[in-house]
Formats: sequence, structure tokens, C-alpha cells
Amino acid sequence: MSERETWATRAGFILAAVGSAVGLGNIWQFPFQTGQNGGAAFLVVYLLAVVLIGFPAMLAEFVVGRGAERNPIDAFSKLGHGNWAVVGVLGAATAFWILSFYSVVGGWVIRYLLASLAEGTGLLTGLVGTYFTTAAGDYFGAIASGPDAILLHFVFMAITAGVVALGINDGIETATKLMVPSIVVLLLGLGVWAATLSGAGAGYGYYLSPDIGAIAANWTSILPAAVGQAFFTLSLGMGAMITYASYLGEDDSLPMDGGLIVVLNTLVGVLAGFVVFPILFAQGIDPAEAGGGGSGAVFVVLASAFAELPLGWLLGTVFFFVLLLAALSSAISLIEVMVSYVTDHYDVSRAPAAAGLGLSIFLLGVPTALDTATLTLYNDLAYNVLLPLSVLGVLVFVVWVNVGSSLDELRLGTAAGDGFAAAWLWHARVVTFTGVFLALVFGVMQQLGFSPAELLSSVF
Ligand code: PHE
Repeated sequence: MSERETWATRAGFILAAVGSAVGLGNIWQFPFQTGQNGGAAFLVVYLLAVVLIGFPAMLAEFVVGRGAERNPIDAFSKLGHGNWAVVGVLGAATAFWILSFYSVVGGWVIRYLLASLAEGTGLLTGLVGTYFTTAAGDYFGAIASGPDAILLHFVFMAITAGVVALGINDGIETATKLMVPSIVVLLLGLGVWAATLSGAGAGYGYYLSPDIGAIAANWTSILPAAVGQAFFTLSLGMGAMITYASYLGEDDSLPMDGGLIVVLNTLVGVLAGFVVFPILFAQGIDPAEAGGGGSGAVFVVLASAFAELPLGWLLGTVFFFVLLLAALSSAISLIEVMVSYVTDHYDVSRAPAAAGLGLSIFLLGVPTALDTATLTLYNDLAYNVLLPLSVLGVLVFVVWVNVGSSLDELRLGTAAGDGFAAAWLWHARVVTFTGVFLALVFGVMQQLGFSPAELLSSVF
């Protein structure tokens, strides 16, 4: 691998990274987490987490990737610190874990796509049912888990692994160039329609007017959720951004590129909230309870919107198709990291590597396709422990262990130069590190069944 390819254009890199970042994390996970953590209180902490923690952490991953020009596991030895490869392994393990249930949700998207098509064409209705005449919550409850969910989880994983095995990612990349603008247009349209519903106002209140008291009272549970959401949606802690940056030329400005990726990705999630919360409140559904314990919020909302809108089946077909593309492009970038590592290091070619990994990930995800409560459990473990731990590893490596060359790398290609690099280092060591560290401590406590809030109040 001496002659390493680099991105032909700066736009190519940004589009690929945005294609990886925009996915179920924005459309499914963001409204779900917001609904679980009190609405506007979560939104505020989440936006702060994106800017103060996610963005600097993304720069850390870029620095490792571009500095080493290697995959996330070999990158650390290339930079002269072989022991730190364990951080790369942790990222790959996190990707493996997350993809196992990401694919189940991808299966839900396929199900809604088929049901929309069936409604319009009259085909397959017997097989996939319809959300147009059943109450939206009931339809979600019926399809979210069980044998059908397992089958579609398998289909989603098979497409993901198939694309990677055949090496036709380029085709998907071309498709994703259209995907992000289409998602934005569709969400904007739905958001405008949602604004006309009676009762929508309560949804805006819930989403947009934070109760500072609620943040203060619940910050120990909001912080890990917000930090986990920032990492999940920005594709951090899973080696993906290290990989993308490893193909980046030295004349690209990491802060500019990273900033653009962060802004575009965050917009999509925030926009999804403008669709979900007004519609939930217009229908009198509690966001924390929408779908299986909250995990179905966006599906319940979209189904009820399409059931009421003229030509709703067509809108549904288009929307779920675009969402499927977004989910696939993210899933592909998750599995690609592992496939390229395996093919570089072992005597296996792409197809068997993708098939083997795809099958193992599918099996790991089966329990989450049997019960949405198990899916939430997997998700919590990723948010509370795996993601913060994995990002913390990269961060400590960049700002303490390998700091000299990291700063040089960050300066390359930026006009801002030394001032920015110094400010970033100070901020990353103090603010970003503390934020991720606290999120990890509180997350682990929650995972072990302690309430950090109670503990804190008994000490102080
Ligand atoms: N960021 C993607 C999403 O929000 C998920 C993802 C994470 C994709 C990590 C690739 C790598 O859907």
C-alpha cells in the first residue's frame, strides 16, 4: 500500500463523510433520545456537546487518520505507539456492536418502504400489512420485533455486506450525493405541514423551550445521552472518520472540513425534531412512550403523517427509500473499516470477509430484533460506555501522548495556523476531555444501576 489514493476533490471527502454521518442517527435516534431525555433540555445539552465535544473530537480523529494514512488499528503503530492500537480495536468493536442493532432499525425502514409501496400498488398488502388504516402505534408494535423483523434485519445486513463484498461502494456514494439534499427537502416539507396541525404548538414548546431547572436536576443522565448522541451521529468512536481522513491531502483544512460536516449533519437531526414533536403532540402521544418505549417515535409520526396526506403512499415510498439509502451509506462505512482491516492483514479477499463479518453482526443483532427493550439495552451500552471510552482513547492519545506531531498535523492546510492549534489543544485538554470523562463516569454508573444524581446529592 505504498501508493495510497487520496480524495480527488475536497467536496468528495466532505460528501463521503456527510454520507456516513447522516443516517438513522439523525432521523431515528435523535428524536428518540430527545423524547427520552425531556425535550428542549436535551436539545440544549446536545447542541453544546456537538460544538464543545464532538467537533474537537472529530479533529482528533482527523489528525490520527491523516497523520498515519492507515486504517484505525494500524494507525497508532505507524505513529510510533503500537500499544495504542487497542484504541483502534475498541473502535472496531464499537462499530461491530452498533451495526448489529442499526441493521434491525434499517429493517424497519425496509418494512415501511414496502408497506408504502403496497398501499399504492395493491401488491404485497397481505404480506407487509398497511400502516394507512391501522393506528400508527399499533403498526409499529406489530412489526418492530419478531420473525419478520429478523428477516428484514437479515436483508438489510445482506445488502450492506453485498455492496462491500462487490466493491460497488462508489455507486452508493453517487446515490448519497442526492440523498442528503432530498432528505432536507422532504423534512422541510413535512415540517411545514406539521406546523399547520392543531396542537402542534405544544410540540414546539416541548422541543424548544428548555427548563433550566430540569437540566440542573437531570444533568447526570442528560450528559451521557447527549455526548453519546453527538458521537453516534457524527460517526465518531468507530474508526470511520480516522479512515476517511487517512485519504485526505495535506492542503485540506481539517477545521474547515470538520466544521462543515458537523453543521450539515446537525441540521438534519434538528430538522427531524421539527417534524416529530409537533405531530406527536397534535396526536396526544407522549414522546417518551411513542412506539416501543420511545424507540419508534419517528416511525409512528411518519406513518400517521403519510396516512393523512394526499398521495401519502407515494410520499412514504420516496421518504423511506431515501432514508434507506441514508441508513445503507452509514452502515457501509461502519462495516468497511473492519473489512479493509481484515483483508489487509489476513489472507482473505473482500467477499468472504464481508460475508463472515456480515453474518456475525447479523447474529449478534438477532436478540434486538426479538424485543425493542433489548435493542434499547444494546443502545444504552453503546452510548454510556463504548462510545465515550473509545473517543476518550483517541483524545488522550492525540492531546497528550502524541501531541507534538498532532499539532503539526492540525496546522497543515489551515490558514489559521498556530493560534487555532493552540486554542484547540487547550480546549480539548480541559473542556472536551472533562466532558467525555464525566459522560463516561455517569454512563458507567447508570449502566451498573447506580443513580449518579442520588450519589451526588448524598455527598454534597
Ligand atoms: N453517523 C451514522 C448515523 O447517524 C452512524 C454511523 C456511525 C455511521 C459510525 C458510520 C460510522 O446514522
